[in-house]
Parts: sequence; structure tokens; C-alpha cells
Amino acid sequence: MMRLDGKTALITGAARGIGRAFAEAYLREGARVMIGDIDLDRASATADEIGARAVRLDVTDQDSIDAAVAETVGALGGIDILINNAAIFSAAPIVEIDRTDYGRVFDVNVAGTLFTLQAVARHMIERGKGGKIINMASQAGRRGEALVAVYCASKAAVISLTQSAGLDLIRHGINVNAIAPGVVDGEHWDGVDAFFAKYEGKAPGQKKREVGAAVPYGRMGRAEDLTGMAVFLASDEADYIVAQTYNVDGGNWMS
Ligand SMILES: NC(=O)c1ccc[n+]([C@@H]2O[C@H](COP(=O)([O-])OP(=O)(O)OC[C@H]3O[C@@H](n4cnc5c(N)ncnc54)[C@H](O)[C@@H]3O)[C@@H](O)[C@H]2O)c1
Repeated sequence: MMRLDGKTALITGAARGIGRAFAEAYLREGARVMIGDIDLDRASATADEIGARAVRLDVTDQDSIDAAVAETVGALGGIDILINNAAIFSAAPIVEIDRTDYGRVFDVNVAGTLFTLQAVARHMIERGKGGKIINMASQAGRRGEALVAVYCASKAAVISLTQSAGLDLIRHGINVNAIAPGVVDGEHWDGVDAFFAKYEGKAPGQKKREVGAAVPYGRMGRAEDLTGMAVFLASDEADYIVAQTYNVDGGNWMS
């Protein structure tokens, strides 16, 4: 018996990276999966490759959220699991942060998470079968970082939203929890590496080598390292887990 047999999942930002690994893991466990991503071409290509479906979703646009949720419900017959995975990164010294960038990051990472969660929670409540919602936080939400103030603050907000939504929605049988990864190699971290190359004068690839060497486990994470927790939190085994954020980071952070 697979652990997500008969379940349906909407995973945001799953055209690539960690979200894609989640989609593949859920499919292996018997779920049907809709990838919701702002990059529809890549989402469709990924969906074709792995056996999922794809819908265009911009989590900063309420009409887009409502349409993607409706399309997912229509295509899959309902939503049992949501992973709020879509996010963007930004970095700058405090004295260089501008409001446009702040707004962009908070729109995707915080408002995007909240209002996608809200739309899916409304569907789950109306359907009356409960559900599982998993938000992607980060070790960046556990502690500020000198050059990463806005992204860190956005991920701290995701941890807080997970607590409030978890406490509010459990009476409907909806479990809201979060995963806080550490440093996970992939296209996202290619971008982070480039930021640090610019701001700390490092050679390309140097920041990645440094953060990888600093992980107690001994290397950067891989997207697949996170799939066990994502499957567990979506399964019936996690019914009694409410409003928590779990670190899956090779030992970087303890809380
Ligand atoms: N990679 C890491 O080291 C790391 C560490 C901690 C937390 N995380 C978190 O894990 C999640 C996945 O990270 P990743 O490394 O796979 O990121 P990624 O940048 O590789 O993928 C993000 C995806 O989100 C999509 N996206 C961006 N804006 C969107 C929008 N407005 N609407 C819908 N989709 C949008 C992108 O098209 C992309 O497919 C993110 O929430 C990230 O903050 C990542």
C-alpha cells in the first residue's frame, strides 16, 4: 500500500527544483499531482516527463489562484494536499534594500502562501474531508542573515502563518505544517551563489562550497533529501501534527 494512495495534491512552484522532487515523490506514493507554476512551459514539460498535470499559477494574483484551484478541483476531483512551495529569493545590504524588491518578495513568499492556503482551505472546508497543507519555510526564517534581510523576514512570516493557520484550521481536520530546509543545491542556489559572488566578492561556486562544508551532515542538501518529510506530513500518519515547522537541513539548525 502506497502512503498517498488515492490522494490529490496541488504543488506550487513545482516546475523545477524542490517542488518537482515533491511531485515525483507524491506520484511514487500513489497521489495524483497538479503542478501550479508561473512558468507554464516548464511546468507542462515537467508534468509530461513525470506523469503529473500542470496549470499556470501566479501566486501574487488572486484571480490566478482562484482559477488554478478551480482547475485542479475539476481535473483531480478535489484537493487533499497543498504544498505552498513557490518562492523567490533576494539579497542586498540593508542600506541598499528598495521597496520594490521588498514588495516583490513579500508578495510571492508571504501573501502568495497565505492566499493560496486560504483558497485551498475554503475548498477543503466546503468538501468536508479535511486535508494537509505544507508551507515551505527555510532556515532563513529561523535567524536573520546580514545580506538577506527581506528573504529571511519573509520566511519567518511563513513560520508564523503556519502556526496561526494550523491552529485555526485543525478544527476542520486540516493540518497545516511547514518544512524548513537548509541549503539545497539547484537552480535557486545558483542564483544565491551569484548574489554572494557580487556582494562578497567571491568566485562563482565558492559560496556553495563554503555552505556545503559548514553543514554538519557534510554536504549541501539535495531536493530528494526533503521528500521523506513532505510525504510524511501529507500522510495519515501526520494527523496529530499541527502548526509545526520541521528543520530538514543536515543539522544546520536546532529548534
Ligand atoms: N533551495 C534552497 O536552498 C532552499 C532552502 C530553504 C528553503 N527553500 C524553499 O524551498 C522552496 C523551493 O525552493 P527551490 O530551491 O526549489 O526554488 P526554485 O527557485 O528552484 O523554484 C521556485 C519555483 O517557483 C516558481 N515561482 C516563482 N514565482 C512564482 C509565482 N509568483 N507563482 C507561482 N510560481 C512561482 C518558479 O517558476 C520556480 O519553478 C521555496 O519556497 C524556497 O524558498 C529553498
